[in-house]
Amino acid sequence: MSLSSSMVISVSMQTSSAKNTNLNAAMATKNDEFYTQWADIEREMNAYLEYDPDVFRDKVILLPCDDPEWSNFAKFFALHFVDFGLKKLISTSYAPDSNPAAVNYQPTLFESESPSFDERKTHTNGKMFTLEPQDINEDGVVNIDDLQWEYLEGDGDFRSDEVTALRDEANIVITNPPFSLFRPFVNWLFDGNVKFSVIGNNHALTYVEIFPRIQTNRLWKGATANSTDMVFGVPKGAKVKDDDRKKAEKLGYPSDDQFDYTRQGNACWYTNIDHGRRHEPLQLMTMDENIKFSKHKEIRGVGYKRYYNFPEAIDVPFVDAIPSDNDGVMGVPSTFVDKYNPDQFEILASAEDMEAMKEIGVEMLGVEFVKTYKEQGGTGGVSPGHRKLGLTEPRYYWPFKRILIRRKSAS
Ligand SMILES: C[S@@+](CC[C@H](N)C(=O)[O-])C[C@H]1O[C@@H](n2cnc3c(N)ncnc32)[C@H](O)[C@@H]1O
Repeated sequence: MSLSSSMVISVSMQTSSAKNTNLNAAMATKNDEFYTQWADIEREMNAYLEYDPDVFRDKVILLPCDDPEWSNFAKFFALHFVDFGLKKLISTSYAPDSNPAAVNYQPTLFESESPSFDERKTHTNGKMFTLEPQDINEDGVVNIDDLQWEYLEGDGDFRSDEVTALRDEANIVITNPPFSLFRPFVNWLFDGNVKFSVIGNNHALTYVEIFPRIQTNRLWKGATANSTDMVFGVPKGAKVKDDDRKKAEKLGYPSDDQFDYTRQGNACWYTNIDHGRRHEPLQLMTMDENIKFSKHKEIRGVGYKRYYNFPEAIDVPFVDAIPSDNDGVMGVPSTFVDKYNPDQFEILASAEDMEAMKEIGVEMLGVEFVKTYKEQGGTGGVSPGHRKLGLTEPRYYWPFKRILIRRKSAS
């Protein structure tokens, strides 16, 4: 049986009690079971190809935390194996027995009808699928039907020696990793010194594994999905908010035999593969123009506030209101990172990193100040934490998520 004709997973054959168990398991897996849609993969990969048509040529691509029997990543790269000029495609899957969401797991016909099928290993071991430039089934094309597969020695955990060895063989690692392991996954990528493109969440931006690497241009946001929803397949019966299900449906993903669908507004790509988006300068008005013409009432005719305990910086509450001619430090919303062009700006610190704030000269505020600031009608970017009265330690609070930036030519 060819893989392309057998993309059915066992959940579609489950009874309702199995579905309930599945629901519980899916909830217990901290929402790790999100299956990426072809269109999202295609949009992001096309952005890399637009910037460098040879980005995948002669490259070994590893897709860990995956499984071509149901994942679109392997299907996408197998379809494009020849036109992208890939050297080798490797996809690894995670053992059902190690995955709490894989209750009532049953192997696909693709696996169970294969001579390599092993009744025990199908539960306990991960699998490795490889595609090389060989037309194994001699049908005149190299594609998903030429994939070879075998069981891994272990369960396919990305941290295992054998998957780490595959990372070391690879030039590029691409996947949607389990979000609960996003931090160790990103560290694992950097340990391997590979190019990568992975799906994460905007909330991860300020993680110590992410933000300093964005600051030093070793990692950046992907080119797509930064301000649009991404749709994901989820195991049948997994808990999906009604609103998200409806939005997914509107985007063209009604539930089907295999999956229910949800959408996420916060999902995004993190990568170190270059794309044109990050080289486009933000088109900005000068400070005077902003004050005269800004579409934001907070700026138009008002101007920019300065931080009480860091007066050299201005607070810019909207990315499109960053003044093009301001040479000082500016506090901007974290969505700035989606538009960040490293030739235009440098990122100095995240306002959530108190040590970094201190280092660039933000003063900590005393308890007395904290207590009286609000009563005196205090405003300004650095709020003294009026909602946290009763503090015993001097500290400051930032009113919104801000990151501090400066114009490149100004440094
Ligand atoms: C978010 S899903 C994405 C699946 C697929 N890559 C996709 O995008 O459609 C993450 C997958 O990682 C697998 N997984 C969970 N923990 C893992 C681990 N420690 N090592 C490798 N894979 C793991 C699970 O099987 C899960 O299906």
